[in-house]
Amino acid sequence: MKGIILAGGAGSRLYPASLPISKILLPVYDKPMIYYPITTLLLAGIKDILIITNPLDNQNFEKVLGTGEQIGVKFSYMVQEVPRGIADSFLIAEKFIDNEPCALVLGDNIFHGFGFSSMLKRVGQKTTGATVFGYAVNDPHRFGVVEFDENNRAISIEEKPQNPRSNYAVTGLYFYDKHVVEYAKTLQPSKRGELEITDLNNIYLKKQALDVEILGRGFAWLDTGTFESLLQAANFIKSMEVNTGMKIACIEEVAWRMGYIDEERLLELGKQYNNDYGEYIKKIVETGSKKLKSNAVV
Ligand code: DAU
Repeated sequence: MKGIILAGGAGSRLYPASLPISKILLPVYDKPMIYYPITTLLLAGIKDILIITNPLDNQNFEKVLGTGEQIGVKFSYMVQEVPRGIADSFLIAEKFIDNEPCALVLGDNIFHGFGFSSMLKRVGQKTTGATVFGYAVNDPHRFGVVEFDENNRAISIEEKPQNPRSNYAVTGLYFYDKHVVEYAKTLQPSKRGELEITDLNNIYLKKQALDVEILGRGFAWLDTGTFESLLQAANFIKSMEVNTGMKIACIEEVAWRMGYIDEERLLELGKQYNNDYGEYIKKIVETGSKKLKSNAVV
């Protein structure tokens, strides 16, 4: 399965903070925001990852993440010239996807919760249909909203409805089978001029090929769209990390636990950072936290 991180857009809601650099490279506590969606894809077992950026920030992403070889995976980069919508990702990435199943995660979506790794592993093995993730929110009108019947089957998805039919938002993580590009090509721009991810999901829904996994109340799906929510996300990550002594979305650790790099390589990577981040990497190797290998990483 291939993976895409959509990291385009201007991030203008965070101007002037995101004027010099993409919002997706801004820190969320102790690491760049993109480390979180990268972790999500790694945990799904995806090692071939395309990062779609805006034209100005392409080189910055490459500078931060390189080829991925250092953590045993492959990162490649493409540009979205104009923000034509989330589903545009599949037109841009047609060659990269190459008729395989593909997962897409929005660069500004942070997920954290017990059992997420095993859920991702299971969903990542599916080769037919599509899977999206529903999460109960206070303000559903800001999102794609999924409605369920009495058997908990999804019956409709609406993009930013004025009168939401449920309080379940569709989060920014999507898994599709190999037909995704073919279906994306049939989409027409919406009233706001975008190729809507909700329209793509509705194609799968109409074919009865859409699964909605619910992320329960013990789960965190964090927004980073405003100054306030970005700070809240950073505080949440800090509080979890300080309380548990374990980092969330340390991509070097995740790659090690997934078996993509060995201990020696992990230690080498840790040595790059003469700070708490580097110390943490050293500590997990020294204390033999490897025993936890089969447990959830995030
Ligand atoms: O976060 C989940 C929500 O994401 C879903 O519930 C909605 O169904 C989906 O439409 C989307 O809603 P947003 O209003 O949050 O999408 P937004 O336009 O803010 O884009 C989300 C991220 O994707 C943002 O970091 C910018 C990036 N993006 C967006 C578009 C439209 C691109 O890189 N290129 C684009 O063309």
